[in-house]
Parts: sequence; structure tokens; C-alpha cells
Amino acid sequence: MFDTDHSAPVIQLRGGSTSFIVELGAPLPRVLHWGADLGELSAAELDTIRITAKPSVTHNSTDTPRLLTVLPTEADAWSGTPGIEGRMRSTGMPYPRFRLNGHTHDEPESTLTLRLHCDLGLELSLRYRLDEHGILAVDGRLRRTGGTSDERTGGTPDGGDVFDLSALTLMLPLPERATEIVDFTGKWSRERSPQRVPVPFGTHLREIRRGRPSLDSPYLLMAGTGGFGFRTGEVWALHVAWSGNQRYFVEQLPEGAGVHRSVVGGGELLLPGEVALGDGDTYDSPTLCFAWSDDGMDGVADRFHELLRSRPHHPASPRPLVLNTWEAVYFDHDLETLSELVDRAASVGVERVVLDDGWFLGRRSARTGLGDWLVDPDVWPDGLSPLVERVRSHGMEFGLWFEPEMINLSSRLAEDHPDWILAPATGEGPSVRHQHVLNIAHEDAWKFVYDRIDALVSEYRIDYIKWDHNRELHEASRRDDGGRAGVRAQTEAIYRLLDALRSRHRGLEIESCASGGGRIDLGILQRTDRVWASDCNDPVERQQIQRWTGQLLPPELVGTHVGAAEAHSTRRVTSLPFRLATALFGHAGIELNLNACDSDELSTIRAWAGLYKELRPLLHSGRVVRADLTDEQTLLHGIVAADRTSALFSWARLGTSPAITSGRVPLPGLDPDRRYRLRLRAEIGRPELNEHPPGWLAAAEEGSLSLGGRTLSGLGLPMPTLQPQQALLLQLDAV
Ligand code: DGJ
Repeated sequence: MFDTDHSAPVIQLRGGSTSFIVELGAPLPRVLHWGADLGELSAAELDTIRITAKPSVTHNSTDTPRLLTVLPTEADAWSGTPGIEGRMRSTGMPYPRFRLNGHTHDEPESTLTLRLHCDLGLELSLRYRLDEHGILAVDGRLRRTGGTSDERTGGTPDGGDVFDLSALTLMLPLPERATEIVDFTGKWSRERSPQRVPVPFGTHLREIRRGRPSLDSPYLLMAGTGGFGFRTGEVWALHVAWSGNQRYFVEQLPEGAGVHRSVVGGGELLLPGEVALGDGDTYDSPTLCFAWSDDGMDGVADRFHELLRSRPHHPASPRPLVLNTWEAVYFDHDLETLSELVDRAASVGVERVVLDDGWFLGRRSARTGLGDWLVDPDVWPDGLSPLVERVRSHGMEFGLWFEPEMINLSSRLAEDHPDWILAPATGEGPSVRHQHVLNIAHEDAWKFVYDRIDALVSEYRIDYIKWDHNRELHEASRRDDGGRAGVRAQTEAIYRLLDALRSRHRGLEIESCASGGGRIDLGILQRTDRVWASDCNDPVERQQIQRWTGQLLPPELVGTHVGAAEAHSTRRVTSLPFRLATALFGHAGIELNLNACDSDELSTIRAWAGLYKELRPLLHSGRVVRADLTDEQTLLHGIVAADRTSALFSWARLGTSPAITSGRVPLPGLDPDRRYRLRLRAEIGRPELNEHPPGWLAAAEEGSLSLGGRTLSGLGLPMPTLQPQQALLLQLDAV
């Protein structure tokens, strides 16, 4: 146990209306504040915060106040999830005792790096960067230096020893008023279903052991003040930027967390033996992205959208309208049919055609072919060139589907290299979708996959890869390494593979897909350009999936396609205008069989393509706003231009409600000091109403209605009651 060091400096980072304050106390620093910006604080004020951050000594507890350090462990009487777990292999010693050994505060960069060392020959560097968007990115790097200075190891020099790391967990404090948690779960075709629970005593723990974030990914864990919504409440959020196994948690102990009430944290979920640090070895944690907002969940979304948009590689070109062949033909590839599809796609305004699964050796079903990345001559006697040329003759881009980390046991690859399968030495483990996992951490397997993709991208000048990953990892055991668990190695290998392909093929775009939206995280998005949100193209489900996927990602990164009238995933039948209105709010595309569309449908789709192209500068740069409505059957969301001179809103109804009318519904996010002209965008058809249209709608249709932003956002408009599964598109332009 230790007491506060009264001379310890206090560091404040500021950015994006957020402050982060750390006391560089001994033996370990502690976070004094993460949340609202407190302004530029004087040394005296910072000292006041430091002095008042010391809790009382309570009954039947430690004899000095319990403090929450940046790496809480039992060494400071922390009885919650430890910041570090592991043990020295030779002695079994599980209690590394870290101390602050130095720090670097880079003020212009708003970065604080803490260098900690410990008596078991370990160094830990913790880096905190608070950017101008208010995202606090935290990274940990643990290094085994060897040597020891402590008698606790038994006096034996431990150079040459190994530290077996079980977990490096980074966490930040939460105040007492953070009483509710919203995070996500899901399944195939219904990703990112939110769940709201009270902050319990004990641990709200989400562990992902699926080898990818997967369909039930916690995605973004938010703790906030009671009833926090899209537009209201104070919210503290965490995203683990990692594509492998991971953990998120909120934890509340009866004694609190120092002067705070609870903690939010997480990190990589390591399997036994995945990280064994010998002398000189290093472990890098995934980046944890923390965000605070007092503007509800929209405020959190804003911060992440700005962060993503500020990346140097964020897509800068207009997001091309896509045609994806999957739901049109599935595995049934045939040049004539696909050529007709391509021609029709061009005629409605498509700009990129993606040939999905089914083009490679033997791939007539999900049972074969994975691993044999050669164009199947039985189906494509002249290779893909006739199709690619057809696509290019229309001035469109060409994309191709791959699933590089997977293998079918019936493939040539599996026959030639059974040792490349990521599975126990005996047996292959259960198959999922008839497939197994290729151990791409195996150098030769990595090279094999890289060479095949590289050759095809070069041969066909592929613009775009849809990169799929259709199964979870179970018993991911590395046959090339004595059966060692291989999820972390696999995750690092996929990052290397994507990085290498992107650096060799500048301009190549990649979509992250995993049975739909099973691999959406900021780790994969460092090296991909878009995600496939879900295999569900049913607009009723999609309204929700997109709304919540948008909690982390801006619309231009989220694939949103219009599917068939009868959705393949749910068999629900919906109208074309509703499907089109839903698919507009993202990186739009077409998944339906255009060859089966009549001329009316084609011209509606053509009009929608025009609308998408007209509106995409707004849709792909504006701020996402979502209204808090009590009626769960109605959804209002919109995109407001960064300068608030224009906006597009969607007013959608999923089902019927007991209430006959909705009353005035505020349109959030507008400039209170501007006037806006309202326009109904009905190019894709007028929504069907369950009532006679309100007078203002007719005026909006004529373009003769304008209202002040203060009225629109403060008071709102009496939105019409639509029939179920209808959406109304309202455009606002400042006058
Ligand atoms: C799963 C994806 O989510 C689908 O869009 C499609 O690409 C199939 N895989 C192909 O097997």
C-alpha cells in the first residue's frame, strides 16, 4: 500500500471538449479525471484536484486510502480485474510490482507516455493520446528486459526466464452517475442489436472467443447517465480496435475505484501460451479507443466518425454505386447471365461490379474450393477477362470476392498442405459452413495466399476485394508450433497480409465482410475501406442494423445494398421505395437480380442511383443525427452537412403503433440561426400514408415551405403517420 506523493506533478491532456488528467504519483500514476473539459487548469487547480482525489479510509479496509492506479493490481489493494495477469515461468511469481520510471508529455501532440518498470524484469509503456476529436487512444507495450533486482524472486537471477502473460487490461474510471450500460450482441443477419443493462455490482463482462469480433461483437461499450439516448446524457464509451479475441467490461466494487465509482476497460483476450515473453520480447496491446460525450450517443458517434474521416487513407473519392452478384446468382456463375447483369447494372448507373463467391476451382457450393484461388476453367474457359472487359467497357470498376483465411478439406490446398490447417494435430475440429481455417501465421501459407491474390489483382487489374471470413475459430491450434494457440498470431498475420497487398497495389480497395458484419472494428478498418454490415438486406431489419452500425462508423464506410422484394434472409416482402430509401444511407449498392426486374423497377432504381450520386457528398461527409422517439416503430435519422447548410432526413415506420399520430417530431442537429427550405424527395416513389397528408407536406412537395432551424430542431414538425414499412425522405437546404 502506498500514499499519495505530495510533490507528484499532474498532467492534463485536452482535446475535443474532453480533459484527461493524470497524477504522476509514486509508485504508480493514477487517472484523476476523464470526461468534460475543465479548461486550461493552473498548477494550483490541478493540485487541488490531486489533493481531493484521495478517498477516505473505510471500515474493515486498507489502513490508507485505496487509490486506482493506471495499472491496478493487488499491489495497491485493487480487488477488481487486474491490469496485468501472468507469472514468471521459473518461480510461478504472479505479482509483478510496477513503478513509474519516467514519462514523456508531448503537449502539442496531446500525448502522455508513462514508462513503468517492475522487479520481474518487465517494462510497460502506456501511451495516452487525446486527439482533437476527443478520442483518447490508449496503447500498452510490455517488454521483457530480463534480469531482476528483487529478492521476491528468491534471489535467483532470472535472465533467460520467461513471463507468461495472461492479460494486459487497460481501464479508465467512471463516476457514480454512470449507471447504465449499452453494448451490442447479435447473430447472423441481425448484427449490432443493442442491449441496455444497469451497471451492476461486480463485473459486466463481454468476452469474445470467436477469433474475430463476430456477429455478437460488443462493438462499442457505452456507460452513461440514467436513460442516456441519442441526443441526451453523458456517455463514456470504449472500443477495442482489434480483430481477434477481446474483452470489454464495466466493473463496480463496493469500495469503488479510488475516488471514482467504477471502471470501464478491456483489451485482447489471450489464450494460454499465446504470449510468452523471453528476454527482449515485446507484447503490443490493441489500441483501446475511449470517448466521452455529454451529447448522448450521437456525440460519441460524432467523435468516432471524425476520427475515421481524419485517417490519411479514408476514402476520398465518391463512393461508387455497387452491384454485387451474390443474391442475384449465388454460385451459379454463367458468363451470359452475368454479362446481362453487368449491362443492366451499367444502364441504371452502377459504377462498380463485384463478382462474389463462386468463381474459383470447383466452387459450385459452399462445400468445396476454398484455398484454390484459381479461376475455374469449367465455368470460365477464357478466364474472367470476358466479364472484366464487359465491366470496363461500361466504365465501371471490377471487384472480386475472396475468403483467404479459409480452406475446404476437399480442396487441392488441403490435400497438398494438411499441416497448414489451423487445427489440433489430430482431427480437424468441427467444420463450420463446411470449412476450416488456414493458418496464415504459417509463413508458407501466408506467402501462398499473398501470391495468389497478388497474381489475380495484377492480371485483372482488380479495383476492389470483398474479403470474407465466414467462420469463427475454434481450437485454433498451430500445427507448425507444437499445437500452440494461434488466434493472436492469425490476427497479426491477416493485418500483415492486408498491409502487404495494399502497399503493393496502391488504390486497391478492400471490404471487410465476415458472414455479413462479423469483422467490424477499427483494427481491420486501418487496412480496409468499407464493411459489409449484414447479410440481411431486409429493410425492416436493416434500418436497425445500419442505425447501430453507425454508432461507430460513418455512412461512407458501411455497405448498404438494395435486395429482392422478398428478402432472402427473412422472406419478408417489402416495397422497392422502402428498400431504396433504406439503402441510400451508406455506401449504396444493389444486391438484387436486375435481370428479373421490369422496366418500371429499373427506372425507379435508375432514379435512385441519380439521387444517391447527387446526395453522396452530403451523405458521406455530414453528421449523423438520430432522434430519441418513444414509439419504437418510428425512426427518424438524418445527415446534416458539416456547415449545417443542408440535411437529409429519413422518417421511417417499421410497423403499426397504438398512437394514431406522432405529434411534432424535432429534426435534430440543425443550425438554430438559419432558415431551411424543405423538399420532399420522391424520385423513388412517395411513401404510403395511413392518413390524409398534413398540409405542410404538400407545401414541402411544392418547395414552398421554409422554417427556422430553431423551430425545426426545437419544436419539430408533425410527421405524418406512414403505413408500415414506408420511409419519407426530406431534404433541407438553407435559404
Ligand atoms: C457471406 C457474405 O456475407 C455474403 O455477402 C457472401 O459474400 C457470401 N459469404 C459468399 O459465400
